[in-house]
Order: sequence, then structure tokens, then C-alpha cells
Amino acid sequence: MADVTNTFTEPEPSALLLLLGQESDAFSERGVDCPGDLPAPSDPGLVERAWAAKKALGDRAFILGHHYQRDEVIQFADVTGDSFKLAQQAAARPDSEFIIFCGVHFMAESADILTTDDQSVVLPDMAAGCSMADMAAADQVQAAWQTLEAAGVADVTIPVTYMNSTAAIKAFTGEHGGTICTSSNADKSLAWAFEQGEKVLFLPDQHLGRNTAVLQRGLSLDDCVVFDPHKPGGGLSREQLREAKMILWRGHCSVHGRFTEESVDEIRAKVPNVNVLVHPECTHEVVLKADYVGSTEYIIQTLNAAEPGSAWAIGTELNLVRRLARQHPDKEIMFLDRTGCCSTMNRIDLPHLVWALESLAADRVVNQIVVDAETQKWARVALDRMLALPGVGVRPAD
Ligand code: 13P
Ligand code: SF4
Repeated sequence: MADVTNTFTEPEPSALLLLLGQESDAFSERGVDCPGDLPAPSDPGLVERAWAAKKALGDRAFILGHHYQRDEVIQFADVTGDSFKLAQQAAARPDSEFIIFCGVHFMAESADILTTDDQSVVLPDMAAGCSMADMAAADQVQAAWQTLEAAGVADVTIPVTYMNSTAAIKAFTGEHGGTICTSSNADKSLAWAFEQGEKVLFLPDQHLGRNTAVLQRGLSLDDCVVFDPHKPGGGLSREQLREAKMILWRGHCSVHGRFTEESVDEIRAKVPNVNVLVHPECTHEVVLKADYVGSTEYIIQTLNAAEPGSAWAIGTELNLVRRLARQHPDKEIMFLDRTGCCSTMNRIDLPHLVWALESLAADRVVNQIVVDAETQKWARVALDRMLALPGVGVRPAD
């Protein structure tokens, strides 16, 4: 057994990390978009102010924190979780006037869809988006569907859309007979979709789609094609569209896409008994080289159950890996790469949280996320299809 101390090594700082607003760099872009008086990050009273505002709001406010959030923010969360759990939790709080979502834009949109009209969902920094969700725009998806229609395959194709997508894409999915999925239920969603039709249009993460289809559904790589929205006809012939079973949208996560086969080889050479555990948003090649693959919740549970003294290299977002390393001092937990915060998740920092909480406590609703009624209607249909899948989740009340 390895001699284990709490050996988490911080990835080396790089110009890129600083540019992305990680840590407390004076030149970071953080906070520039805030439509009010954002407290200075150097204000020593920020933690106290956040607790005071949270106390003043009491049961009126419920704070949700995604696992990728900074520690300075997560300490104020009433519930922490992955995107699926947080969507369920938002739906389960009809008595909270304000849902403060410490996560990214698409998650807050889902919360707005699943909460009542009397509740306000607040995203402390409107610039907290998801680069993957931005890779599928509504007009691109409509155009892609027309391409499938022209190829004569649209009526046998079921859209399956990852939670990491805009409300508009979720609505498209609902309207076209499809379902939403998360990384913890993508297999069940695909199984359902193949009962409804012959093909799946998987949006927007090609890697989650491919990994699930090949490793869990038993399809071959040849059954998968990649639809590139920037090329005419998706860059595919009609023949290719007719033969494919999985039509994968050309989107990816810039954080998980950064792990390489070389990073797996390097860590194995350095730590011979290491277990490599990665998120299914990683490329298929990286997933094939890993020992374990699974969603954020799976990663957390696997480490909770791991033997003391075991060594783990984790391929997911850095804030979470750092926290897991701290929570498990009896295991050797390391990051599978050199860089890797989600820069947009990271935008929610203490100044933005304090600003949002204090504004709400003063009855000023700021940064409210509102999904229009028509989009809500169809997006809700798609979300409800996921929630109704066997073993996936309870259907929240209307
Ligand atoms: P989860 O569904 O595991 O919360 O993942 C969200 C995400 O953004 C992963 O990159
Ligand atoms: Fe989006 Fe990737 Fe960040 Fe998740 S980690 S929010 S998929 S950019």
C-alpha cells in the first residue's frame, strides 16, 4: 500500500489560468458585468456580510451550490450537488421566494422551468455560462433538423439533449419527441430513445454521446457520426445520415476535453498503482484508458468508498478535485492534468454572492433568470420525460 499523506499538489499557475479569472488576479475579468456596487474582493468583511444577508433572508432564500463552485461560495450553499440533483432540489422548494443558483446559466434556467411563477431564480454573475451549452444555438439546431428532414431521417430520429444546454434547445427537444439527460442517466435516456425511434440526435456533447452509446449501449464507433453545425449539411452526406445510429453534435466541454491520453500515461508512470477516474465528458480515447468513468456524483461516491491508502487521479473540474483531496486525507487524490478550473463556474465568487444576497435582502431582485412561457412549456416536457424514466427521479409538482 502506498505511503499516503494528504499530498494534493496544486497544478502549476499559468498565464491561461490567470486570464480565466482563477485565484485573485488583479487583471481578471471577474465582476465587470455586475449592474451594481460589487464589493471589493479584498473586503475582509465579505464572509460576515454573506452570513448576515443569508440570515436576514431566512427561509425566503435557498442557495444551491454546484460541486464545481469555489469553496468561498460553497460554504453558503443550503444544498450542494450535480446539475440533476440541484434541479430536483430547486423543484422541491416551492416555499422559497428566491432560489440563488451558484452554478452556470443553463442550470439556473432549468431551475426557473421547474419552479413556480412566484419564485425568482437568481444567478449571482450573469457571465457564468457554459461554453459547451453555447456550442448549440437554437437556429443551428433548427437548421440541422431540416438537414435530417431532407435526408428523410427526421421522423425516425429522437433528440436526446444533455442538461448542459440552453432552455431553447431543451424546448426543441421536447417539441420533437425527445428527452433531456444528465451524465448520470445518459444510458437510460438513450435506451428510452432507441425504443421510440431508430436514431438519436445527441446534443450538444459529442463525447458523452459517444461514450454512452459505445460503452454502455454496445453500439460501435462506426454507428456514430459527428454533425458539424459550421459545415453545410453538418459535413455529412445523406447516406452517412441514413446509416448512422448516433448523430453526435459537434460540441464538447473545454474543461474535460483538456485531458489527454498522455496525461493518463504520465500519471501511471509516476504513480504505478493509481486508479484513473474520469468524467464521461472526456474524449473516448481518455475514457478507454481510464479505470473508471462516471458522473460527478459517481466520482464523489467512488472516492467515498475507496480504500484508505489508495491512489486516485481524477479527470474532472479542479475545484471539486481539490475539495475531494481535502475531504479524504487518508487517500492520495491527484488531478489528472496541470490546469482545469471551469472558468465560467468560477465566475461566481464571494463578491457576487454578497452583492446578490444583500440586494435580495433589500427587496431588490437582481440577475433574475427568466425563461419565457412557450420555451418553458416544451423544455418542461423534455425534462419531465427524463424525470419519468424508470429509476431516474421523482417528477416535481407542477
Ligand atoms: P453534472 O451533471 O455532473 O453536474 O455536470 C455538469 C457539468 O457541467 C459537467 O461538466
Ligand atoms: Fe460547461 Fe464544461 Fe464548465 Fe461543465 S465544466 S459548466 S460542461 S464548460
